[in-house]
Amino acid sequence: MNNFINISDLKDIDKAIEEAILLKKHPTKYQNIGKNKTIGLLFFNSSLRTRLSTQKAAINLGMNVMVMNFSKEGWALEFDDGVLMNSSKSEHIKEAAQVISQYCDIVAVRAFAELKSSAIDNQDKVINGFLKYATIPVVNMESATGHPLQALADAITIAEHTQKKQPKIVLSWAPHPNALPQAVANSFVEMLHQTSASFVITHPKGFELNSEITKNATIEYNQEKAFENADFIYVKNWSSYTNYGKTSQDETWKITIAKMKLTNQAKFMHCLPVRRNVVVDDAVLDGENTLVIQQANNRTYAAQVVLKKILENEKK
Ligand code: CP
Repeated sequence: MNNFINISDLKDIDKAIEEAILLKKHPTKYQNIGKNKTIGLLFFNSSLRTRLSTQKAAINLGMNVMVMNFSKEGWALEFDDGVLMNSSKSEHIKEAAQVISQYCDIVAVRAFAELKSSAIDNQDKVINGFLKYATIPVVNMESATGHPLQALADAITIAEHTQKKQPKIVLSWAPHPNALPQAVANSFVEMLHQTSASFVITHPKGFELNSEITKNATIEYNQEKAFENADFIYVKNWSSYTNYGKTSQDETWKITIAKMKLTNQAKFMHCLPVRRNVVVDDAVLDGENTLVIQQANNRTYAAQVVLKKILENEKK
């Protein structure tokens, strides 16, 4: 593997999950793989888990790590070609990506959707700018359209908590005061498409995800019906794709103990950060079926398996 932009960049997700579970047992077994190699982690947006888990994964592989909060510390970058740069943008991605490629062996980038235009966000200009101009492997730490490291961590967590070949997994929308990107939900769906799981997506009408991503997935607008017999409830808010960037605080979609009782004693999952008692009641989040802390822990091993595969195939 050279770049990790989408979950489909993994040739075999089941093998990657197995490998991550082994890495979890022996996290420093491959310390030599990253010796004298450097990863640059570039953040155009805030992060707790992605920043620390990717750093930890790189350290476990013996790498040096450089982190830059690009939006606060870097020059404002221009991503369009052929423009007159006489406004707020000081540096073009063309130079920036090539310069960073001289300092690092891998570059990982976080740059969220702006949620003003689906046409613009679908171009994923930041990650694609690095792909176009960097001469080193590029890792997606959440782009405008996807968060594959999160999806891989979620797949590892599900594998660790079921013996079933076809567990029923429900991806449920939940309310939120702010408009949030669809990236986590997109990658979760893309990941599920690659597994044998039976899954249902439930959300209010008008909150459909990009149909190119959901493909033939089952959509159920009745949340309580969707929850019946579920083994995993994966909760996430996303803003509307069809009415792009519009959000809703419809509290009838909040996750409660009463709704979880409709399931097959389902595990509760969320990528975090989560707004307590807005998205999900304390009683669910603090209950014995919650997996949110385990999911966050698995972010390290998801990142580690990805970085290991890139280092093993390095073509620099
Ligand atoms: N889930 C996740 O990506 O968390 P951070 O935004 O804190 O990195």
